[in-house]
Amino acid sequence: MKRIGVLFVCLGNICRSPLAEGAFRHLVSEKGIEDRFLIDSAATSSWHIDSAPDSRGQNAALLAGFDISSQRARKLRPDDFEIFHYILAMDRNNLSHMKSIDPEAPAKVELLLKYSDRGILEVPDPYYGDVEDFQATLDLVGSGAKGLLEAIEREHFS
Ligand code: 4NP
Repeated sequence: MKRIGVLFVCLGNICRSPLAEGAFRHLVSEKGIEDRFLIDSAATSSWHIDSAPDSRGQNAALLAGFDISSQRARKLRPDDFEIFHYILAMDRNNLSHMKSIDPEAPAKVELLLKYSDRGILEVPDPYYGDVEDFQATLDLVGSGAKGLLEAIEREHFS
């Protein structure tokens, strides 16, 4: 069975997209359906390649019951558009960056929060924020991850 590829993308791949990846992995593992997915995250910039997620995000994840400490930042690659079926941007800048790389990308490139019920479409960048901003980030990306998984289950597993 072909795995469904899900890729989360932000500017640095150290704050928002690692939390989105971790939240989505956590939901998938709770359902015992890890083997049906290929899950990753990536940056539109090269600024933090090989860095671990921001420690404030790691702590927010641990409080929510999952560990993102082994993730490492990487840059988005052109072949990601072939490999991943769903590519989720945290904000409109990420989205337009990706569309400029490959406007014909077959993957679904869209805003993660289209799948959320929180009434906003972009995940604010918490990089210059405090611990509470990272908790708010996790709350937002978690709601997007939940809605995304429900949509994938409806589209592919029902
Ligand atoms: P992210 O946050 O895109 O959610 O990983 C940022 C990380 C680093 C920087 C900006 C945003 N930076 O300016 O280095």
